[in-house]
Amino acid sequence: MTYEHLSQLPEDPSSYWIASTSFSDADPLKENTETDVVVVGAGITGITAAYLLIHEGFDVILLDADNILHGTTGHTTAKITAQHDLFYHDLIQHTSIEKARTYYNVNEEAKKFIETIVREHKLTCGFEEQDAVLYATSSQDYNALQKEKKAYETLGIPHEMRSEVPFNESAQAALAMTGQAQFHPLHYLTFLLEAFKKRGGKVYENTTITGMVEGERPVLETRQGKYLISRFVLSCTHFPFHDANNYYFTKMHAERSYVIAAKAPDVNGMYLSVDTALPKRSIRSVTINGENYLLIGGESHKTGQGKDQLAHYKALQSFAERVFNAKEFPYRWSAQDLYTLDSIPYIGVLTDNESNTFVATGYRKWGMTSGTAAAIMLKNYVLGNETEDMALFDPNRFLINPSLKHFLKHNSDVTMLFFADKLKPAAKKVDDIALGEGGIVSLNGRRAGVYRDKHGDMHAVDTTCKHLGCEVHWNNGDRTWDCPCHGSRYDVDGRVIEGPAKEPLDPLPE
Ligand code: FES
Repeated sequence: MTYEHLSQLPEDPSSYWIASTSFSDADPLKENTETDVVVVGAGITGITAAYLLIHEGFDVILLDADNILHGTTGHTTAKITAQHDLFYHDLIQHTSIEKARTYYNVNEEAKKFIETIVREHKLTCGFEEQDAVLYATSSQDYNALQKEKKAYETLGIPHEMRSEVPFNESAQAALAMTGQAQFHPLHYLTFLLEAFKKRGGKVYENTTITGMVEGERPVLETRQGKYLISRFVLSCTHFPFHDANNYYFTKMHAERSYVIAAKAPDVNGMYLSVDTALPKRSIRSVTINGENYLLIGGESHKTGQGKDQLAHYKALQSFAERVFNAKEFPYRWSAQDLYTLDSIPYIGVLTDNESNTFVATGYRKWGMTSGTAAAIMLKNYVLGNETEDMALFDPNRFLINPSLKHFLKHNSDVTMLFFADKLKPAAKKVDDIALGEGGIVSLNGRRAGVYRDKHGDMHAVDTTCKHLGCEVHWNNGDRTWDCPCHGSRYDVDGRVIEGPAKEPLDPLPE
């Protein structure tokens, strides 16, 4: 599919959250520095942790390899809820009632934390209380909703069972977790960021950490060759910027999903379909320039392993047209999420040997509550206020069921992909690549990734991923090179957008 097939969808991807937020730029780190806490990664976890720790009296530096809030936090659907798809029934089966209750409680606390900040500071960030609703349109998924409802009853989660949804879908049943919320995440987070800076917090953008020496006072090195020494380090990047031989890429996988904004009548509530035989759909309302729109999301797939990415946007458009009679679609964007082996985030010490370096990642699609909960836990780790509940999220845990099965599947898939792609010949020639398109071609007798921009200029890169050498794939929805093995992403000139890769793809001469 090419851009001519997009019809009413915008030609370029753009997140509404980012487009409607003013950012103040920050410089890269330009000198060697010492501090109490370095927070690496300025999304919801990093900004919230930095805000909390500066209020505890620490000197805090917040860094981002790119521009602040332009990563996954800037591309979310921004539902603030402890309803994380169908989850609590399975969680009880794989862990215990107590652990499932802990999971719910920390996410509920995170929701209350956000609400308290919004109310105390009278923030205008579109915060609205909404019920979060799972719905099934087929009878075979009715049972799954019933089991989830039972889990809610066991855990004491406020809920309602409903027989319909307020839009043109024939639901068999709907399970509402009542009293949840939605907001404009960047209007909320830019408040926390400014409050952090007012207290003396320092922020640096375009500052990539390329190495770290562990120890009593860890030393971090930036790509620009500057050093940071601190007492504590918080890794709030997606894949930890420092792996410490923990091989996080073997125990997490990356998925991409898609969102469009559709002009449509207001819908009360935030919805997620749970049909197993149909593509998932996520729905929430948002007000843009005083008018009602819906954010419609779905079409998840493992990064680098999707079909034609523009087709995913078209599928969301068709859904919006059929169900909401929508005709205008001013925004489209996509997001990357990380999944742990047992679907519980990794939050805690990076390795059992290091008590001053912490990691938070693997929120699936639920970063607003999980990221806030992680920030609160990271603060407590730094303060030495660990509680038993935090052990549920220990990054060094291993639950035999379901982790072992997922670990074996994920890593055997990666091995298959590694060899299958290397053996696949480049099917296209450079002349086959039209304006605004990209693909794998044979260039000067070798395999190359080529993008031809709107002016006709060619951008050619070696398609060998700099993480562990898999072959990157062209993503025509976002115009990026995506690695199917562990989800690294690169722009058309090979610059790293998402890790675990740290180094850019090699450029190739035309
Ligand atoms: Fe691991 Fe590309 S992300 S090989």
